[in-house]
Amino acid sequence: MKVIGIVGSPRKGGNTEILTAHTLKAIAEEGLETELIPLAGLDIKPCNACGDCAKEEWCPIEDDLFPIYVKMREADGIILASPVYYSSATALIKALMERAGHISHSGRQAFKGKVGGPLVVARRAGQNFTVAQLTFWFQILDMVVPGSTYWNMAFGRQKGEVSQDEEGMRTAWTFGKNVALVVKKLRA
Ligand SMILES: Cc1cc2nc3c(=O)[nH]c(=O)nc-3n(C[C@H](O)[C@H](O)[C@H](O)COP(=O)(O)O)c2cc1C
Repeated sequence: MKVIGIVGSPRKGGNTEILTAHTLKAIAEEGLETELIPLAGLDIKPCNACGDCAKEEWCPIEDDLFPIYVKMREADGIILASPVYYSSATALIKALMERAGHISHSGRQAFKGKVGGPLVVARRAGQNFTVAQLTFWFQILDMVVPGSTYWNMAFGRQKGEVSQDEEGMRTAWTFGKNVALVVKKLRA
């Protein structure tokens, strides 16, 4: 059983990565395999609506997306994490959501029954909208989204600041525990 955490910040080692690593630690404690996948530095273009993924489970755009799609396909759980950029998820994670979502959704429901959910970090505002934005992706792809004791968001601006948001870190930790619990129940 494996859960991957995909981090859509262009900043390596930033707050979103810290929050995601913390969540994956909670999951690993329950005996599941985990992998953190930072998108920083990768080339992931947006969907160009060619429609090829409706014919086969493939994307003809030559960049870094497809190997990550394969990891998503193989995982039991997928976490999508993003900093808030202008009250929204980043363009980087959005490109992945469009492409991986469309390959999965185009007649094959490849992500059906997987467990997952969002993680969001911002300096001050836009977390609620971004949590909703990411959650919509899981819902249309027939996935199961566990809850936590608050929405999965935290505060932080400079690298590392998120660690001081005790409630945000705790919420992400509980979310991780619930992801592990649901993966185990569904796979039992
Ligand atoms: C282009 C850009 C846009 C941002 N927009 C917002 C915003 O709308 N609301 C907010 O509170 N913080 C905003 N921020 C701050 C980041 O969300 C914040 O620094 C976050 O911790 C970055 O996460 P990271 O360290 O994982 O990259 C923005 C930062 C950048 C670079």
